[in-house]
Amino acid sequence: MVPLQLTRMNATYHKLYGIDARYFVIYGGRRSSKSWSVSQLLVRQALENPGRRIVILRKFATSIRLSVWDRVKSAIEEALPLSMCDINISNRRIGLPTGSEFQFVGADDTEKLKSIEDVGTYWLEEATEFVEQELNVLDAGMSTQCTPPPQFWLTFNPVPQIGAHQHWLQERFTGKIEHEMSVPRVSGNVCVLRTWYKDNAMCPQINIDILEGYKEHNELLYLMWALGEFTHLEGSILSNYNVVESVPARAHSLGYAIDFGYSVDPAAVVAVWQHGREIWIEQKVYMAGLTNPDLSEAMEEAGIPKYAHIVADSAEPKSIEELRREGWTVEPAIKFGQQFKKSAALFLQGLQIHILENSHDLQRECATWSWKIDKENHVLPIVEDGNDHGIDALIYRIYRPGGSIDFTAIEQGRGTLPVMRRSIVSDRVPALVG
Ligand SMILES: Nc1ncnc2c1ncn2[C@@H]1O[C@H](COP(=O)(O)OP(=O)(O)OP(=O)(O)O)[C@@H](O)[C@H]1O
Ligand SMILES: [Mg+2]
Repeated sequence: MVPLQLTRMNATYHKLYGIDARYFVIYGGRRSSKSWSVSQLLVRQALENPGRRIVILRKFATSIRLSVWDRVKSAIEEALPLSMCDINISNRRIGLPTGSEFQFVGADDTEKLKSIEDVGTYWLEEATEFVEQELNVLDAGMSTQCTPPPQFWLTFNPVPQIGAHQHWLQERFTGKIEHEMSVPRVSGNVCVLRTWYKDNAMCPQINIDILEGYKEHNELLYLMWALGEFTHLEGSILSNYNVVESVPARAHSLGYAIDFGYSVDPAAVVAVWQHGREIWIEQKVYMAGLTNPDLSEAMEEAGIPKYAHIVADSAEPKSIEELRREGWTVEPAIKFGQQFKKSAALFLQGLQIHILENSHDLQRECATWSWKIDKENHVLPIVEDGNDHGIDALIYRIYRPGGSIDFTAIEQGRGTLPVMRRSIVSDRVPALVG
C-alpha cells in the first residue's frame, strides 16, 4: 500500500482528472502551472494505475535533466518518499512501488524511443518544439490495451505567428476546438485546456508583476506571455536569425558567457562561435533556482571545460568570485553607457545569427525580444526587458570594445531603429475567467 499524500494541485487542473480523452492539449500563458500540474496529474495516474508506463519527452535529450526530470521527481516526492522509488538517473527512469514507471527520453534519441514498449501515456513537454510527424509516429505505434486508455499530454506556450501560417498545434487542436480560458473542453478524443497565471494560486508575485507589466508596455507580449494567445509580434528586434543543426567547421569558438539569475530569472550560459559577421549560439544551461555551486555543476554537466574562457555579468562580482573558486576562468563583461542595451540590440541586428536547434529557450527569446510600445502604439527605441537572459549572455560575449569581433564592420552594416507603427494581432481574444 502506497502512503499517498494529497498534492497541492491548482483547481483548474483538477478538472482534468477523470476526463476520457486521447489527447490532452494544455497550453497558455507563462507561469500558469502547466508543468507542475501535469507532473502532479501523471504521478497520480502512475500511483492509481499499477504498471502504467509513462514516457516524458523533450525534443532534445539534453534538456531533460534540468527540466522535466527534476519537476517529476518533486511531484513524486509530494506523494511518497523517494526512498520507495527506484531512481536511475543514467537510464532516466523512475520506478514506483506500484510497478508504474516514468521514462524520460529525447525525441532525438530515436533508438531509445523505439525500444520502449507498452507505453500508456506520453507527455510532450514544450510541444511546440516537436513536428507533427513525431506525434504521428508515436501515435501509430501506440496500441496498448490499458486503463485508462492510451493518452498523449501536450503542454506548451504559444509561439509567435509568422504571417498567416498557423503552428500545427493550432491547426490541429487549439484553433479547431472552441474553448474558453481555464475550462477544459472535450471534443471527440481531444481535451483542450488553456490557462494563464491566474490559474496558478502559487504563481510567484514577481512573475505576476512582470506579466501584468506587459499590459502597459507591450500589449502583444501581454497577449502571448500572459494570456497565452498565438500572436503576430510587431516590434520584434531580431529577424536576422535562423535555427541550424550544427556549427560549421569554418566558425571558431569565442568561448562562453553567463547571465546570472536565481529565483525568477534563469541563469543562462551560452557558447558562441563566429565567422565574419555570422554568429552561432548554443544554450548550455538555462535554469532558475541554481545557486552558484549548482550552476558550476550544471556547467560541468553541460561539458564546459574548466579552462574555457567565460565572461559574465559584471553586476555580480560575488558570483564571479564564487565560480572562480570552483576553478572556472570567469571575467566580468563590461557594460558601458546608458544606451548599452539599445546599442547592443542594433549591433546584433547587423549580424547573421544562427541558433543551435537544441537551444529552445534561446529560440524563444530571439522570437520575442522586442522594442517597447507606448500607449499610442508607437514602437519605441527601448528594449523590452525580461525575456532576454541568453541574449544578454550573448551580448556580454560579443559586444565589447576591442572584443574579438570586427566591431566597425558590423556597426556599418547594422540594423535600423524600429519603425513607428505596429499592426494589431488577431481580434479574437477569448473570454477570460477571473
Ligand atoms: N502546485 C504548486 N505548488 C507550489 N508552487 C507551484 C505549483 N504550481 C506552480 N507553482 C509555482 O508556479 C511557478 C510556475 O509553474 P510552472 O513552471 O508549472 O508553470 P508553467 O505554466 O509550466 O510555466 P512556463 O509557461 O514558464 O513553462 C513554479 O515555478 C512554482 O513556483
Ligand atoms: Mg512549463
